[in-house]
Amino acid sequence: MPKGRIVAGLLAPHPPHLIYAENPPQNEPRSEGGWEGLRWGYERLRADLAKIDHDAIVVLSPHWQTYVGWHFLGVPRFDGLSVDPIFPHLFRYRYGLDVDVALAEAIEAEARSAGLVTAMMRNPDFRVDYGTIVSCHLTNPAWDKPIVSISSCRSAAFYNIDVMQAQAVALADATVRAIEKSGKRVVLLASNSLSHRHFTSEGDVPEDMSREHVTSHAQHLWDMKIVNMLKSGRTREVVDILPEFSSQAIAETDAGSFTWMLAALGFPTYPAELYAYGTVIGTGNAVMGWFPKEAP
Ligand SMILES: [Fe+2]
Repeated sequence: MPKGRIVAGLLAPHPPHLIYAENPPQNEPRSEGGWEGLRWGYERLRADLAKIDHDAIVVLSPHWQTYVGWHFLGVPRFDGLSVDPIFPHLFRYRYGLDVDVALAEAIEAEARSAGLVTAMMRNPDFRVDYGTIVSCHLTNPAWDKPIVSISSCRSAAFYNIDVMQAQAVALADATVRAIEKSGKRVVLLASNSLSHRHFTSEGDVPEDMSREHVTSHAQHLWDMKIVNMLKSGRTREVVDILPEFSSQAIAETDAGSFTWMLAALGFPTYPAELYAYGTVIGTGNAVMGWFPKEAP
C-alpha cells in the first residue's frame, strides 16, 4: 500500500451567510444572493480541488467546542437539521454526511498515544456543528467524499493560546502519522475566519451588500498582514504571531484549526493560493489553498 498523504490544505471559513446566499436545496431560507466575491473564490477553489484525486476530507471546526480533549465523529452516517443559533432566519440546513470512521479512529489513536486527551463521538443523534457543515458544503457541495470532523479543544479558553498551539501542533503530527499509515489521499480544512469582530445589528435585507464592510481599520490591517504573509510563504511566522493576532483582531484562529492545518502541512514556505478575501457581517474571511508537491 502506498503511503497516504495530504494532497491539499485549505483555509475554508464557514459564515452561514455564504450558504444562505447560494440557495442550495438543503437550506430552507431563500436569498437574493450576496457575498459574491467570497462565493466566486470558493467556486475557483472547488474547480482546483476537482483536479486532485482524494479519498476523504478532514475538518477541524471552531464550533464543535469541547473543553475536555479533542473529539472525533465516530458514526458512519449523520442526518439532521442544523440551525444556526445566531442566524436561524438564514441557516436551517438539512444535512446528511458520511464519516470515514476508520480514518477518524486512526487519528484519534495516534493523538491519544501522543498524550493528547481524546474521545470518539458515538452518538448517532449527535447534531453536527454548523462550522463543519458550512466548510464542507462550500468545499464539496456534492458531499460525495467522507469526512473526518475534529472538535476544537478550547485550550485557549481553558488555559491560554500557547497551550492551544502546542496541542494543535501535536494533533497535526498525529494527523499526519495516521494519514500516512492509512494510504489515503486526504484534504485538510481549517474552518475559520480571520478577524472576527462582527456587527451586532442587521438590516431588513441581510444580503444588502451596501452594508457590508470590515468592522474596523485595525481589523483590516491585521487581516492584510496575515494574508500577505501567507501569500509569501511565511507560515511559521504567522503561527508565531497568532496569539497576538487572535487577541487583537478577535480572530477565530484561537480555535486551533489554522495552527493544526499549517503544522500538518509542515509549515509551508511556498506561496498560498489566495482565492478570495471578503467580509461577512464585518468579519474577515480568506479562502486559501496549499497544495503540497508529490514526492518524486
Ligand atoms: Fe465561526
